[in-house]
Amino acid sequence: MPQPIIPTPHIPDRFVLPSSRTQKDKNVPRIRTLSLLGSASEMQRDPLGFLTRTQAHGEVVRLRFLFSPAYLISHPESIKHVLQENARNYNKDLLTYKIFKPMLGQGLLINDGQSWLHQRRLIQPAFHRKRLEIYSTLMTDATVAMLERWQARSDIGTPLQMEEEMVRLTLQIVGRALFSLDLSQEASTVGSAVTALLELTAGYVLQPFPPLSVPIPRNRRLQMAIRTLDQVVYRMIAERRRLQTDTGDLLSMLLLAQDEETGRRMNDRQVRDEVQTLLLAGHETTANTLTWTWYLLSDHPEVERRLHAELNDVLGGRVPTVEDLPNLKYTRMVLEEALRLYPAAPLLSRKAVADDELSGCHIPANSMVMISPYAMHRHPAFWEEPERFEPERATVRPSYAYFPFGGGPRMCIGNHFAMMEAQLILSTVAQRYQLCLVSGHPVEPQMRVTLRPRYGLPMVTHARRNIQSQQKN
Ligand code: HEM
Repeated sequence: MPQPIIPTPHIPDRFVLPSSRTQKDKNVPRIRTLSLLGSASEMQRDPLGFLTRTQAHGEVVRLRFLFSPAYLISHPESIKHVLQENARNYNKDLLTYKIFKPMLGQGLLINDGQSWLHQRRLIQPAFHRKRLEIYSTLMTDATVAMLERWQARSDIGTPLQMEEEMVRLTLQIVGRALFSLDLSQEASTVGSAVTALLELTAGYVLQPFPPLSVPIPRNRRLQMAIRTLDQVVYRMIAERRRLQTDTGDLLSMLLLAQDEETGRRMNDRQVRDEVQTLLLAGHETTANTLTWTWYLLSDHPEVERRLHAELNDVLGGRVPTVEDLPNLKYTRMVLEEALRLYPAAPLLSRKAVADDELSGCHIPANSMVMISPYAMHRHPAFWEEPERFEPERATVRPSYAYFPFGGGPRMCIGNHFAMMEAQLILSTVAQRYQLCLVSGHPVEPQMRVTLRPRYGLPMVTHARRNIQSQQKN
């Protein structure tokens, strides 16, 4: 999951900033601005444009957010250094992550140090590729059920809001796979609490003033969504502890997981934090990836034709299984290319613990280091015609110029889950339907917590069976 945009409290214009330049610092290109907020307001206004423009200034560019220096890193070697080789020197102790604390507590995404490592070791086995395979049938079952619901709309040509359809589907899948929660009902308490939480969090992250403790209506709604989800999750934990059953899902694994050295198990609060983290980090990201894929396919008929040809060859009308996935190569390439142009996590950031050097530039301790998959995935130095959607690039992707799931020890724990799920959903849906964007509808990426289509994505579904029989006649 990405990190939010820097908040911009009001600072009076006449304030003068102290200079903190060091000797080595002088060579670092910098974005100069007279605004006392530094680049914060520009970043808030147009984050994607700002990141892309800024990276054109150099491999390391110095910025300022209020009084704090920040560095945008745009070279694969330096990105590898931060995320992987010297990952110990970079943590998530930033205001931008602290905002998530009431929702995610000490969950994997925002935790650090020994406590993070301990939790990651406990949870990692649940995401092992082999273990994930048991979820494949519930992924396709949920997709087929969605298609049945689509049928009536398709017959009369009513557009569907594709981003909403994908969020509903992926939330249902992550709830069922990881916690045996049935979120298929529209009125499901957890389903609506998670959706409200996601919506309100996106707003809160953009505008965290006044803070959550101040009872304005938005904050009260957010607190209410947190409380509702807490109640359900704690009840679920208590029930499982009481029954002592191993249902084989992630919740069972979390409850049974034991520290190898101490034999200690997670307490209720730790389990709650991880459940909430996985529910939130584990659905909208995949939903957005699929939403962008539908958009790109509708805009590139030649890619869509090749995808349909592969689906006809490999599946011939069958619902896919996990055994089909290695043969659905082009399907995967389409998704990977969609993740290049529209990475669900467009910006990652860290705090440098001690001084470091990146691309020959001095990075002082305590500075914020920003890395943008969105900007890097379109960097003209590493990609030929970066704006072109071309799934064939899969064979020539430079590492750390392409990193939709991050890298190093904090790489996305759900990456195999997400890719398997996306491949199964894409192939199940594209076998039955061709999705067409409503003519003239504007499409523009918007960076909120993840990368979404700013004006939604209304699409009309056409049954492929009908198209194929029309083509034959
Ligand atoms: C296409 C879908 C997804 C994308 C693009 C994505 C992207 C990412 C990225 C870039 C990170 C690293 C953040 C950083 O370095 O600061 C991350 C971390 C994480 N993701 Fe995902 N993610 C996806 C799906 C999922 C799913 C399905 C789950 C769980 C079911 C998940 C759970 C997590 C967690 C728990 C972390 C934190 C890991 C840690 O710090 O140890 N993600 N994700």
